[in-house]
Amino acid sequence: MGELEEARAYSEALLNSMADGIGVLDLEGKVIDVNEPLLQMMGLKKEEIVGLPLIQVLGPVVEPAEIEKVSATIGQLMAGAPAGFIEMVITHKDGTRVTISIGPSVVRDAQGKPVMLLAVMRDITERKRMEQEIQDKNEQLNAQNEELRATEEELRASNEELQAANEELTETQEQLIRSERLAAIGQLAGGVGHELRNPLGAIKNAVYYIKGKLAKSDLAEKEPRVLEFLDIVDDEVNISNKIITDLLGFSRVGKPLVMPTPVRKVVKEALARVPIPENVALNENLGPDSKEVAVDAGQIQQVLVNVITNAVQAMPEGGKLTISTRERKDFLELDVTDTGSGIADENKGKVFDPLFTTRAKGIGLGLAVSKSIIDRHGGQIEAKSAVGKGTTFTIRLPLEIPVQEDSVEKQ
Ligand SMILES: Nc1ncnc2c1ncn2[C@@H]1O[C@H](COP(=O)(O)OP(=O)(O)OP(=O)(O)O)[C@@H](O)[C@H]1O
Ligand SMILES: [Mg+2]
Repeated sequence: MGELEEARAYSEALLNSMADGIGVLDLEGKVIDVNEPLLQMMGLKKEEIVGLPLIQVLGPVVEPAEIEKVSATIGQLMAGAPAGFIEMVITHKDGTRVTISIGPSVVRDAQGKPVMLLAVMRDITERKRMEQEIQDKNEQLNAQNEELRATEEELRASNEELQAANEELTETQEQLIRSERLAAIGQLAGGVGHELRNPLGAIKNAVYYIKGKLAKSDLAEKEPRVLEFLDIVDDEVNISNKIITDLLGFSRVGKPLVMPTPVRKVVKEALARVPIPENVALNENLGPDSKEVAVDAGQIQQVLVNVITNAVQAMPEGGKLTISTRERKDFLELDVTDTGSGIADENKGKVFDPLFTTRAKGIGLGLAVSKSIIDRHGGQIEAKSAVGKGTTFTIRLPLEIPVQEDSVEKQ
């Protein structure tokens, strides 16, 4: 083997052992030589390539658009401009598809004159496949994520619905317990009140009789304290009678007899029934005369009497009592505000409970009965209070009333 042949064999072996495909073209784009890996990538034999223009070689194995890309790049290179990598899919005769990346360059002689073109090809099929797989996985994940988010949203909505339902249930339950307690108290109060009325009547009669006899004897003058004690007995009997009357009135709340009623009139009549002390300044802001709500005037008046009485009782040192009404979307709102003691935080949840009282002479039925009346009107009553500053009771009454037909009659 001559030296030249030996060198050739050596460089061929070198080129064939590379992983990349190498192609050498003349300046017209005709293929001069290729290595083994390139042939494998193209799925062609050496004689199907060498000596032919590259464009012609590519014709049967790539899409026409790719050929245009290749000739554009060759043109660019010949014009002296740099060219980047070209990616293309080669389809072998047996249908195998291979994605390759081609890095083209110009080979120049010592004077810088272009002498040939060099193409380095790399099989990137596997990389592409992995990239695609990652992208697919990503899309899948995104879709799953989206689904999860939607499910989460749905769950949250159901949860909120459940919570609302729960709250409604609790409220209904509390209302029921309150009505039942009221009914039980009412029954007891009715019985006891009735039983006590007769002995109290007898005591009152006896006192009257003794007083009459005393007036005609000289004992009154000799023992003036006897008359004094008789007056005390009389007063206490009167107070006891009043408590019984209150108790009976408090616990007998019937079904509301609803009629269109001017708001102003109900408030005025309630105010007429509560003595307002001189040290309490009254402020009224009642809106137009004509405004009507459909209510049981007697019952709502009872509610106002209870709430206003409480307000006055909360201001033993005097203060300001404000009653105001305003129209909301489909209900009327009435505020009774005092500048009294306020309600301690730990009592705020209890003021509507039957028999809850902090007053020495209180029974603790005023607000319980008021709430039961407002509930039966399909309205709301609530308190806002700050200790030492005062309290506002807000009553809301629907302007159009669907009175619950099934509300239980309490006696
Ligand atoms: N305006 C108010 N300011 C401060 N506390 C109040 C006010 N209204 C009610 N309360 C508190 O709520 C409690 C319950 O009131 P409620 O009217 O039901 O009963 P009461 O006034 O104690 O007795 P009564 O049965 O004679 O009305 C009161 O004892 C008081 O502690
Ligand atoms: Mg009260």
